Amino acid sequence: MSEGPLRRPFAAITGLGVAVPPRVVDNAWFAERLDTSDEWIVERTGIRERRIADPTQTVADLSREAAEHAMREAGITAAEIDAIVLGTATPDRLLPSTACDLQVLLGAVNATAFDISAACPGFIYALTVAEGLIASGQSRTTLVIGAEKLSAITDMQDRSTAILFGDGAGAAVVRRTEPTGDKPRGILSTFLKSDGRLGNLLYRPGGGSSDPLSEKVLAERSHYLRMSGREVFKAAVIAMAEASDEAIRRAGVTADEIDLLVPHQANVRIIEATAKHAGMPMDRVMVNVDRYGNTSSASIPLALDQAVREGRIGPGSLVLLVAFGAGFTWGSAVVRW
Ligand code: ACO
Repeated sequence: MSEGPLRRPFAAITGLGVAVPPRVVDNAWFAERLDTSDEWIVERTGIRERRIADPTQTVADLSREAAEHAMREAGITAAEIDAIVLGTATPDRLLPSTACDLQVLLGAVNATAFDISAACPGFIYALTVAEGLIASGQSRTTLVIGAEKLSAITDMQDRSTAILFGDGAGAAVVRRTEPTGDKPRGILSTFLKSDGRLGNLLYRPGGGSSDPLSEKVLAERSHYLRMSGREVFKAAVIAMAEASDEAIRRAGVTADEIDLLVPHQANVRIIEATAKHAGMPMDRVMVNVDRYGNTSSASIPLALDQAVREGRIGPGSLVLLVAFGAGFTWGSAVVRW
């Protein structure tokens, strides 16, 4: 990876929006059905409740609601969108992309649209691609989405995964920026990395083209997500630390200057370890895993949006985004609001 200084920022987030299904499922719901308890779930994960979509509600529907909020806030019309980049691990259909379905729902007739498969860091991957499209002149206005219906790929009979996940979507309008002053707003740095050798620690064995959906797949329940939780936990702590350091270094700032860390919301213990590594007290860390569980690629925008609405991020704030997920994939970004 080249180390040369980049002329940044190229792009800034000018609008945010989120959507979550109305149905709230608390830990007691699982305790009634599985060998688990509210106490175990809260102590080991920090999760108290999550949102679960109605079977008829699609990832494109959730994305549309989030996108419309973000577009209103940014003051743009659908016709102004040049690109839609949608991170998801749970596309509505395997073909075509959910981004293309979203393009139709929004009427974004001038856009190119495509999905990104990068699991939990999907939003950061999409943000990085959006910045690249803008820097290369391909797009002036890009809609970045992280959206999931994890309930569709979660085995509700497996207590080690069923309690972790939730559904939701987040959207950001990312526009070309004309840097002004010595502290211009926008994306100051990004960092992406993967290690495919560890893929089978968190994966869906069946249902893809190597083992198409069949009676066997259904009987083995191999179309559902499987996770070696303890190994994923350890890898997540190490990768989130590396990602924090890299985004901070590439932005040319220090951890002390970061106003708010907005980490992927998988487990409060991973979040605490990431904050400790960065030397950041928990009052400078956004946590809402208690309300939504792990929503994979939607988790960063759901946390970011809440932080903005609560006034924890304002003009000039320096924000660090960090995420880790299946692949393994990890990534980070430093953004000046
Ligand atoms: N209720 C009660 N007991 C449980 C439950 C449950 N829901 N789930 C597991 N247990 C038991 C296990 O069976 C095990 O029992 P044993 O000791 O008798 O074998 C014991 O609890 C401890 O299990 P561990 O898996 O070691 O528990 P751990 O403390 O690691 O917590 C957890 C599990 C919460 C899954 C944790 O490992 C974790 O958060 N991992 C990381 C997940 C993550 O970050 N994913 C990110 C990416 S997600 C994506 O990309 C879509």
